[in-house]
Formats: sequence, structure tokens, C-alpha cells
Amino acid sequence: MTTAATPSLPIDFSRIPAARLPAVVHSAPKAELHIHIEGSLEPELIFELAARNGVPLAYPSVEALRAAYAFTNLQSFLDVYYAGASVLLKEQDFHDMAWAYLTRAARDGVVCAELFFDPQTHTDRGVPMGVVIQGLKSACDRAGRELGLRAELILCFLRHLSEEAALQTLQDALPYREHFIGVGLDSSERGHPPEKFSRVFTRAGKLGLHRVAHAGEEGPAAYITAALDVLKVERIDHGVRCTEDPALVERLALQGTPLTVCPLSNIKLCVFPTMAAHNLPALLQAGLMVTVNSDDPAYFGGYLNENYSALLQAHPAALTARHAWQLLRNSLQASFAPAAVRQGWLQQLDAHFAMAAAL
Ligand code: ADE
Ligand code: ZN
Repeated sequence: MTTAATPSLPIDFSRIPAARLPAVVHSAPKAELHIHIEGSLEPELIFELAARNGVPLAYPSVEALRAAYAFTNLQSFLDVYYAGASVLLKEQDFHDMAWAYLTRAARDGVVCAELFFDPQTHTDRGVPMGVVIQGLKSACDRAGRELGLRAELILCFLRHLSEEAALQTLQDALPYREHFIGVGLDSSERGHPPEKFSRVFTRAGKLGLHRVAHAGEEGPAAYITAALDVLKVERIDHGVRCTEDPALVERLALQGTPLTVCPLSNIKLCVFPTMAAHNLPALLQAGLMVTVNSDDPAYFGGYLNENYSALLQAHPAALTARHAWQLLRNSLQASFAPAAVRQGWLQQLDAHFAMAAAL
């Protein structure tokens, strides 16, 4: 099993009681591997950008917009999310959005963030690809310089659109190839299986890009299998429905395929009825390489540390200090950063827990 790791230093996890655990986790180094940067757009910034760009909004106030964040499933959220993104027009807008997220993430102890972005949401409105990518990339570079946070971009294809559109999007992004490290697949999952995007993922692989895909959020376990076999992904985004196929769970554990799970998102989008019913502890128990992420934090009621807190609170018996350490370790280990960089972060994590256990 992949997740039964041993710390590089002796850590007496039993000396970190549940009452102190959230604070220890909050200040620990961690990676965020599943964050849609458009999903970090807070209502206040939506209104500021709408005013700056003269874009009309369907809601009269920040409060009215926030009140609309009551979702019943993925599609009900995506409709609001795409409307929110319509205020993004200029390079500065993309920079400001990403910078707001990255400064917030740095306060959560994030040392590595791999940001999803949806170029088609913008290029289909006439925003040039270069405006999107260069705006985001300048914020990532600034995070490296000013926050010591390694930030990278992953270009996502919208799966409710055609594969031809995805191929064209990849082509249009090629002048900026050095600005992003991988491709992903997001938007409406049901009825849009991974096989639909086999050619564009093959092309991305030939270009040396990392590959990830949303699968098993609302869609069936078979979509996870297809993402692995057809799209050759290195990580599965969400993947919580893998438990419907025990052979798949075994395969994921044996291969050590990371799952980027998003607890608050899963509750907001009714994938699980409550946090106490979330299967993350069971996935960890099954030996899967589970990570914790925020998905669309402006819409789902919390950034990364709030996701950890909500989980720890709902699962006090199943998630002890050792499990929290494992989740944090998995996040750093599952990032696409070079091995030597990941090794440095893992040592920082162990030192952090050893110090907390010695208090
Ligand atoms: N785009 C933004 N958030 C998403 C999610 N949770 N699932 C699929 N597509 C998304
Ligand atoms: Zn997502």
C-alpha cells in the first residue's frame, strides 16, 4: 500500500491531541493540486472587475450573488461559475484573480499550487489566449519571487464542448507552451466520458505535458478507469466514486495514483450528504494516495485549511495526527515539482510535526 509512509525523523504522533491538530495542520507546509483559479473569484472581486470593465451582472449586490450559491449538483454550480468568470477581460484581471488566491494560499501554508484554468471560458468570449495565460503566469512568477510559493498552471479542456474545440484550444496555447505544465479535463462530467478526449490527451502527452482529469465526481467509476487507460492521466481529480469498483480501488492503491479529493466541494454539490458521510477516511484506509484540495473555494465555503478543518472535525476518530500528516505528505509527494524540491518540502513537514509533538 502506498500511503503507509514513515517519517524521516521519529515523530510521536500520539503527543498531538485532536484539540491541537487543526492548528498544527494549518501551519504545516502543503500543496494544493485541485483549484480552479476561476473558482477562487470572490463576489467582491467579481463586482470590482465588473465595474472596472463595464460588464453587467445579473445580481444587484455582493450579498445577492452570494445568496445564489445554493447548489444541488455540479451543473447548478457550473452555470453560476461561468457567469462569474464573464467579468475577466484583461491581462490585469487574470493576474489580480490569481494573485488574490496565491496570497491567501500562502497564509494557509501552501508551498506549491498547481492551478487549473479554463481557457475556453474566456476565448469563447473573445478574450485572446495570450491575455489569459500571460495574466495568470505573471501572478505565478510573482508568487515564486514574493511568497516563496511554487505556482504552476494546468490548462483544462471543457468536456461539455467537442474534442475538436479542445484540439484547437491546445493548438492556440502552443505559443505559450512553456507557461503551463499540463492539461486537465473539467466541467459537466455525466455524458462526457474520457474517451471523447483521447486524441487531444495523446497530443498533449507527445508535447511532454502532464495529464490529469476529473473523474468519478458525479460520473461512474468506469470514467476513472477510462481516464487511466485512455487518457493516461497521472492523477485523478476527485475520484471518490472509485469505491463502486473494488478492483479499481485495488489498482489505484497498487499504482499509487493520487486522488485530488475536495471535501467541501463534495458537500456543496451534494456528492455526499454530510461531511461525516464523506468517504475520504475510507479511501485513506484502503491505502489510496488521497490529497485534500479546495476545488472552487470562493463558491464552496472555504479555502484549503477550511477543508482540512471540516474533515478533522467530522472524523475525529478516523483522522488522527498521523493521518493528517499522511494527507499533507501525499499532497507534496503528488505534485509535479522535481523530486529534489519535493524532498525538501517533505523534510520541512516532518520537522514541523516533530516540533509539534515535542511541545
Ligand atoms: N469546474 C470547476 N469546478 C469543477 C468541478 N468541481 N467539477 C468539474 N468541473 C469543474
Ligand atoms: Zn474541480
